[in-house]
Amino acid sequence: MARTLWLLGSLIAVGIGYILYEPSFDPESLRGARVVITGCSSGIGEQMAYEYAQMGAKVLITARRENRLKEVVAKMRELGAQEALYVAGDMGKAEDCERTIQTAKEKFGGLDILVINHLASTIDNKFFQFLWDGDMDYAQKHIQANYVSYLRLASLALPSLHRNSGSIVVVGSAAGRFGVPLNTLYSGTKFGLHGFFSSLRQELHIQKSNVSVTYIVLGAIDTVLGKKAIHDRGLDTKQQMAPVSSAAQAIIRGGATGQREVYYPWGQIWTLVKVWDFFPQVADYFLELSVIDGPKKLDRSPLLE
Ligand SMILES: *[C@@H]1O[C@H](CO)[C@@H](O)[C@H](O)[C@H]1NC(C)=O
Repeated sequence: MARTLWLLGSLIAVGIGYILYEPSFDPESLRGARVVITGCSSGIGEQMAYEYAQMGAKVLITARRENRLKEVVAKMRELGAQEALYVAGDMGKAEDCERTIQTAKEKFGGLDILVINHLASTIDNKFFQFLWDGDMDYAQKHIQANYVSYLRLASLALPSLHRNSGSIVVVGSAAGRFGVPLNTLYSGTKFGLHGFFSSLRQELHIQKSNVSVTYIVLGAIDTVLGKKAIHDRGLDTKQQMAPVSSAAQAIIRGGATGQREVYYPWGQIWTLVKVWDFFPQVADYFLELSVIDGPKKLDRSPLLE
C-alpha cells in the first residue's frame, strides 16, 4: 500500500515537473540571429520586434502600412538591433510572401527564425463579431490571408532554416485548441495551423532536420485586436487581459528553446485547453454562456431564418 502511494506520488511529481519544465533560455543566444516577423505594425508583432532588437538580433518585419513600419524600424535601431529592415506587403498575396523571404536571404545571407504572426483582421469589420452566415467570399479571403500564407511563408523559408538548424514559430490561439462562438473562421484557421504544423514537426523530425516548430496558444492579450475581440462579445475589456510585453517574451523564449507549444498566459490557457480536451460539454457550456450573457444582442444567422 505504502509502496503504491509512493509510486503514485512520484508519478504525479514527475508529471507536474514535466508540465512546469522550462528549458533555460539565454537572451545572448539571439545576438546576431536572423529573424523574420510578420504582422509588426501593432500589437504582439510590434512588441516582438522591439524585444528581438534589444537582444541584438537582425530583424526583418512586415505589415501592410509602410508609415508604421518606418516608425517601428527606427525604434528597433534605437533599441540596439544589429539590423532592422521592413517589407511592406500583404501576406495574403503570394508575391509579397516571396519578396519577404527573398529580402531576408539577400540582406542577411540566410534565416534562423521565422515568426509567423500576422492576422488580416481588417479585411472588413465582421471579424470576431458574426454568427456564421455562409459568406464564402469572406471565408476564402480569410483562409488565404490567415492560413494559406502561413504555409507559404514556412515553405519558402524552410530550405534556409534547415541549413541553419532554425526555428518556425506559429502564433496561434487558444481558439485553435477549442471552439469559441463568434469565431468560426478565426478558430478554423488556427485549428488548421495547429494540425498542419504538428504534422510538419513530425516530418522534419523523421527526416532528421533540426528545424524546430513552435505553436503558440495565446489567450486574451492586451492589444487593440484583443480588446476588440473581448469588446465585440459584450464583455468587460478591463478584465483578464495579459500584458503584451510578457506575451512577446514568452513567444521569443519558446521559439529560441524549440518548445513544441507555448501556452500564454500559462495557467489559465493550459487549464482551459485541458478542460476542453477532457470535458468538452462543460467547456462549451461556459464558452456559450460568455456570449449569451453578454449585453450585445445577437441577430440570428441568416442560415437559420
Ligand atoms: C543537427 O544537429 C546535430 C547536433 O547539433 C548536428 O550534429 C547535425 O549535423 C545537425 N543536422 C543538420 C541537418 O544540420
